[in-house]
Amino acid sequence: MDLNFDLEFRQWLKRTETIVELDPIHFDSKIDLLHSLNTKKLTKEIVQLMYDLLPLPDQLEAFTYEEAVATMRDLGIFIGILKKHRIEPVEAVPELEYVLLVLMVKTELPPRDTLIHYTSWNPSGPRIRTYTGLDDEKHLIESVRMAMPDLFSAILELERLQHIPLSDPMFSVHCQVVQDKISAMVKGIVHAKRNVSPAVFANELRFYYDPIKVDYGKDYIGPGAVEMPMFLFDHLLWSCDLADDEYANFKEGYLYYNLPFVTKIYFTFKGKPSILSRAIRDFKNEPGPAILRSAYQIQQLGNTLKSFRMPHKKLAENAYAHSDEHNRTKGSGGYAPTILEKILNLQLERFSALQKVMTEADEVSK
Ligand code: HEM
Repeated sequence: MDLNFDLEFRQWLKRTETIVELDPIHFDSKIDLLHSLNTKKLTKEIVQLMYDLLPLPDQLEAFTYEEAVATMRDLGIFIGILKKHRIEPVEAVPELEYVLLVLMVKTELPPRDTLIHYTSWNPSGPRIRTYTGLDDEKHLIESVRMAMPDLFSAILELERLQHIPLSDPMFSVHCQVVQDKISAMVKGIVHAKRNVSPAVFANELRFYYDPIKVDYGKDYIGPGAVEMPMFLFDHLLWSCDLADDEYANFKEGYLYYNLPFVTKIYFTFKGKPSILSRAIRDFKNEPGPAILRSAYQIQQLGNTLKSFRMPHKKLAENAYAHSDEHNRTKGSGGYAPTILEKILNLQLERFSALQKVMTEADEVSK
């Protein structure tokens, strides 16, 4: 187990408490005005308001990490709104590019806002930052916010499991923690399903998450839930040894939008046996009650992943079916909803390979 990852996570939780309280560019008092300008499509006034709030070089230089993050979060709302009106933010406000690049360096994150800025680092209650002020958007933010810390904890527990033999009783203990934590993803989807209208998502919200061009015209995607490090959870549990270029590119495309420890864990395990592959190997070599118990728990984790992926896929397909703009077939992460089916099928294939060895061992023991 790498204690540094635990430390980084605890530091993230602590910093998050500070960041949500901060208002370094005095955006609190301007959110209602920005919503009203957005509704009226007054783009010149939106650009002017952004200029008014843009930090000056001296102020920018003096920002702490937490102030830099909170500033990026708030500029991100302007960025999404400008994109919704088909305006490239850095073209409309050239001074923005310098600010984004300084914030990038100060935070070791991309030169734009990420999903973490938009959800975990977003204050809740009356200070919440949204593009629209709509309840659907607030609930979408909430559905990710409620799952994010437990997803990080689940990943760190899986990282621990990578160092524990399946025959060790501690494997079961940690697996149970993973199970409890990862169920937060299911709760997140249930919350979105109940509270986010597919039509509002398809015809209003998704346009705010479009990519923008920064730093010599490079594309940077917007803060959609696809950036969640769910791919790292899958990586550790069942996919770090999978040879599939499209899927590997999918996972690696979101590393940069995550905290630095996500990338470190990803590359530490890339190409090494996943926890599921270790279970298959151990089952073949030394089947016994301890391995059976651990393999059974791994299967339960697979079932929980299914309970996230199946309703999520339905939610995404439903939203796209409600879209008035049928030529727009890609999500905020740059993929069509068919990627969801692909990931689900890869997952099901790997778990049925485990099921196969478990069934074979069961038949031999009879
Ligand atoms: C109206 C709600 C939602 C819609 C329409 C939607 C749609 C999509 C689409 C189309 C993708 C494919 C990749 C891309 O965007 O380029 C995707 C991926 C993803 N979304 Fe959502 N999503 C919604 C809500 C959520 C929520 C609430 C969560 C988590 C709590 C979530 C987590 C994910 C994850 C982790 C992926 C990566 C693929 C995977 O791991 O299976 N989404 N979503």
